[in-house]
Amino acid sequence: MTSFDLILRGGTCVLPWGEAVADVGVKAGRIAAIGDLGGASAPQVVDCAGLHVLPGLIDPHVHLRDPGDPAVETIPTGTRAAILGGITAVFDMPNTTPSITSQPALEEKRAYIQGKSWCDIGFYVGAAKSNIADLAALELNRDVCAIKVFAGSSTGDLLVEDDASLERVMRSGRRRIAYHSEDEYRLQARKPLYAAGGPHRLHAEWRDVECALLGTRRLMALARETGRPAHILHVSTAEELAYLKDFRDVATVEVLVNHLSQTDEAYDRLGGYAVMNPPIRDARHMEAAWAAVRDGTVDCIGSDHAPHSRAAKERPWPATAAGLTGVQTLVPLMLDHVNAGRLSLGRLVDLMAAGPARVYGAVGKGRLAAGYDADFTVVDLKKSRTIEESWIASPCGWTPFAGQRVTGWPVMTILRGHVAMREDEVQGAPQGRPVLFH
Ligand code: DOR
Repeated sequence: MTSFDLILRGGTCVLPWGEAVADVGVKAGRIAAIGDLGGASAPQVVDCAGLHVLPGLIDPHVHLRDPGDPAVETIPTGTRAAILGGITAVFDMPNTTPSITSQPALEEKRAYIQGKSWCDIGFYVGAAKSNIADLAALELNRDVCAIKVFAGSSTGDLLVEDDASLERVMRSGRRRIAYHSEDEYRLQARKPLYAAGGPHRLHAEWRDVECALLGTRRLMALARETGRPAHILHVSTAEELAYLKDFRDVATVEVLVNHLSQTDEAYDRLGGYAVMNPPIRDARHMEAAWAAVRDGTVDCIGSDHAPHSRAAKERPWPATAAGLTGVQTLVPLMLDHVNAGRLSLGRLVDLMAAGPARVYGAVGKGRLAAGYDADFTVVDLKKSRTIEESWIASPCGWTPFAGQRVTGWPVMTILRGHVAMREDEVQGAPQGRPVLFH
């Protein structure tokens, strides 16, 4: 009789070529077989009847703040939040305190996550004007998902804003670069106009559509000229989404769950808890983001999980810290969008598993197929539940989606064959490892 370490029995599997009711057999942390495994045995068999089995979902955009402020977030707490929310791998941003911009800082982080990370983790390295010469070597570390460039300033001190430096970054190395695209000059020029403060919705006026579009046009011109692939993070405007359709030779596109789920009414409802960069905008942009999900312009969806203390979020605008928690609520919100008919489950998997694996070149991830890592997000599409702050594992303790009722919930998270979360409980010890990249 064939034996496996684990069998997921009878779930509706979202395979790259369509949905099928099947068993999945796991051996040594990898998918060993998919099909009718009725004659096989395993010490652990999980009944998945009535549930959907997805490849492990990836959040390619999180800020885990480690090193930084443990009262807000750490790698242990943020990856626990990820696992509780049905995420099996996160790609962690470099704007920590201090930033991750050098080989020793990267090595320290790699050593630190052993035994502390609940999910697998890829590392961004930050570009700074002082480390451009090192970037080509830094991006060759196997666990680096990408170089991250803040071409417009946000939280932290990372910034490469001028064309000459951006071109040098693009000519240093070969892999796809991930960009925060807002035009720094326009941001700074407009800042004095808002110095007196005012309602939080002014955030979207200060960092307006033109800031984002101008930033993206400049990056696309340089990417074409240098031939260096680009990934434009958190695209937030209808104008950029239309523009980027003509740059598929060099550009891939991320959209955030926030920009698919919230419009500018959120400023009146949530105050500082709606402030992020690039800003939440009006319904026209949200509709354009959904159209771009439907027509294939979008490659990845992320949360831009960016925790801050309540005190920092409650400072009067424009001193309000920008950034929203989200790694734990990403999957429930996206499943709710599936239930509302805004996208199919197949497209969700394309955007949240296959997409990030393809864009960043993750090894063995993103695909429910033989030989790939046995990472699974098992979801109950019928389960209805209210998102509550008591569920949030990040020490900062808040979510902008508190009180929202959603349909569709991750009920199990399996990491390389180990059941890491079942029905709201994390299981065993942290088993996360670095994700490797081609
Ligand atoms: O809102 C944001 N918060 N946008 C970013 O680009 C950075 C992030 C953070 O680190 O707080």
